[in-house]
This record gives sequence, structure tokens and C-alpha cells, in this order.
Amino acid sequence: MTRSAEIEFLKVYFVFILLSYFGGKSIMTKLNFYSLEKTPYLNPRTDRRVAVVTGGNSGIGWYDCLHLYLHGWTIYVVGRNEQKVTSAIQKIEEELKVTIAKYPEDQLNKRPVGSLKYVHGDFTDLASCDKAAKEILLHEKLIHLVILNAGVMALPLQFTKDNLEIQYQTNVTSQFLLTMRLLPAVKAVAEQGQIVPRIVFLSSLAHTMTRSFVKPGDKSLFKGPNFLKTWMRYSQSKLADIHLAKQLAQRYPKILTSSVHPGVIVDTELYSHWKKLPLIGVFARGFIGLTGKLAGVSQEEGCLSTLRAATDPSLTLEKDNGKYYDAGGPQKDPSDIANNVENAKYTWNWNVLELKGRGFDVEEA
Ligand SMILES: NC(=O)c1ccc[n+]([C@@H]2O[C@H](COP(=O)([O-])OP(=O)(O)OC[C@H]3O[C@@H](n4cnc5c(N)ncnc54)[C@H](OP(=O)(O)O)[C@@H]3O)[C@@H](O)[C@H]2O)c1
Repeated sequence: MTRSAEIEFLKVYFVFILLSYFGGKSIMTKLNFYSLEKTPYLNPRTDRRVAVVTGGNSGIGWYDCLHLYLHGWTIYVVGRNEQKVTSAIQKIEEELKVTIAKYPEDQLNKRPVGSLKYVHGDFTDLASCDKAAKEILLHEKLIHLVILNAGVMALPLQFTKDNLEIQYQTNVTSQFLLTMRLLPAVKAVAEQGQIVPRIVFLSSLAHTMTRSFVKPGDKSLFKGPNFLKTWMRYSQSKLADIHLAKQLAQRYPKILTSSVHPGVIVDTELYSHWKKLPLIGVFARGFIGLTGKLAGVSQEEGCLSTLRAATDPSLTLEKDNGKYYDAGGPQKDPSDIANNVENAKYTWNWNVLELKGRGFDVEEA
């Protein structure tokens, strides 16, 4: 990465901040939110559908799980902390009483709920992801939906026990491994020919922060001031999520794969590292809070782009495979770097090779 690429990044970063301040609120109030009434209510006894959701214990992922549960899905919630995930599952079950009270009377018996199960998976540990997939496959031969939502943002530079940078491994490589391991059960749904299985990657508007393609593994992101480079590493990881979604769509055309930006949701745990910092945390809390007021959406609104990509019955393989969805749910073009097929192939091959080098072969012979 050259000095001019860093300056370019800084320019885009400040434009992004200015847009959030001055354009954000008007953009957000014009958002076209996906209506969850379009998502079919399933009866798990007659139409059993299985979803795997990563990071479902907080923020956007919790709302994904809540609404899938209310729509009758069987959900495997993959997380690293059993206590957190089981208490999140309990809260979803409690929320049911509140929701049912709002149902129109004639719908009460037509909306049976699904079920929620915890599966241990730590995305800083490749072996743990491999094991999580094996555990799910022990119980399920058919998987209809995978939502890759778990993520971390702007952490200090750290390398995991697999010797990968922590943001990239958590946001990309580990969840790619999980997906590839679950693929036989996803493909099995496609082969039955009645239901189109789906995969959704949580990307971010932050993928646009890099104006040139910073290749995975580029060591220049490991040097220099962390306050700048950590955002570049986050941006790089969220760009990779779009690349992998596009490559999956191309390589597996019978699976509807997408990536989404959920919106700016400042009260999730994603921002907690910055909010907790001594001194800087005071500014961070003020800055993040103001950004949220001007340009943010709620956590529940934040799940709508994901749930549109995951469940909107009007989406088809022919016209929608590999697409990117913006906050609230409308389709949008991601950046040119994200759309570039050669870049996407590079990201795919890099991840395949890194996994192979660590004993996890994910490509089919
Ligand atoms: N919030 C936003 O403004 C925003 C904007 C654009 C994109 N996104 C994307 O949306 C997704 C969800 O973010 P959120 O805002 O809902 O954040 P969040 O509340 O922090 O949720 C992140 C989830 O990921 C899990 N996770 C993190 N590291 C993990 C690991 N090593 N192993 C297993 N699980 C792990 C967390 O589990 P623990 O509780 O165990 O940490 C949590 O359940 C992320 O991919 C994020 O990049 C968010």
C-alpha cells in the first residue's frame, strides 16, 4: 500500500463522516424498509426450514434470530460464549409473548414459532469453526439458510492462534470455512429443486473506505498508526465479504448468495472497544452517539437488509444472485473494487490457500 493510497483513504473517511453528519438523517428518513410481512410464516411441522446464524446473541444478529424464530425457522445460533447465547435465546422466547399480543386474532394459530439451538463456534479459531459445522451436520442434512453476521470492528492489531489478523479471520476466513463446511447440506436443498437455499454475508458501507484494492495479507496494514490502519483492516474485511458472496454466487449458481450493509447502528456491541477506551472513549462515545442520532437506524431496522436477502420471496436466482443490499433492504451497487471479478477471485483464492496451509481444504476436487 502506497502513501497516496493512505491519503486517499483518509479523504474518503472524512467525506464519509461529513456525509453521515450532513446527509445522514435525510438519507435515513427516506429509507425504503423491507416489510417482514412479506416473509412467509412457516409451519415447522409441515415445512421445516433450517438456518445457521453466526453472532446471534447481540445486535443485528439477535433480531435476525428473533424474526426467523417468529416466522417458524429452526435456527442454529453459532457463538463463542454459551452463557451469552443461551441468555439471548431466552430473551427471544420471552419476546414472543410481547409479539403474539400484537398479532391480528385471525393470525394467532397460523404463525407457529420455530426453535433455537446453541452451537459453540469461536471465529478466532479455525478448528472451532470446523467443529461447529460438523456438529450442525450431525443433526441436519438440509440447510436452507446461512447468515454470516458475527463480526468485530476496528480492534487493535492482533494475530490469532491460527496466525491470521483478528478482524480478517473473524469477519472473513473463519466464516468462509464454516460456510464451505456447511455447503453439502446447502447444496442438498438446491438439488431437491423445490426451495432455493440462501447465504447472506454481513458486509458494510465501510467497504467503500478503500479506494484501491488492498489485497488480503497486505502487510502494510500491519504497520503505521493503529487509529488509521485498524479501520483499513475493517474495510478490507468487509470488502472481502462482498467478494466471497459474489464468488459463491458464480461458483454455486443454484444457491442465492448476497451481501448486505445493515445501516449504521451505534448501540450494538460492535463499537464497545472504542467506547471503553480511557480518554479517547469520551470523545468516541460523543462522536458515535451523534453519528447515531444523525444517521443511525435502530437495531431492529438494521436486521431488515439481511432478512430481505434471506427471506424475500420475490428474489430469484436469475436476477438477484450475488447482489448487495443497502440499509433497510433495497439493492444497491457496491464499490467498483467490490464488483471487480479479478479482485473477488483473488480474495477467494487467498482464503482457500490460507485455509489449506492450515490443514483445512475447502475446495472441491
Ligand atoms: N452496527 C453497525 O453499525 C454495522 C454497520 C455495518 C456492518 N455491520 C456488521 O454487522 C454485523 C453485526 O454487527 P453488530 O453491530 O450487531 O455487532 P455486535 O452486537 O457486536 O454483534 C457481533 C456478534 O458477533 C459475535 N462475535 C464476534 N467475535 C466473535 C468470535 N470470535 N467468535 C464468535 N462470535 C463472535 C459477537 O459475539 P460476542 O458477544 O461473543 O462478542 C456478537 O454476537 C457485523 O458483521 C458488523 O461488521 C454493523
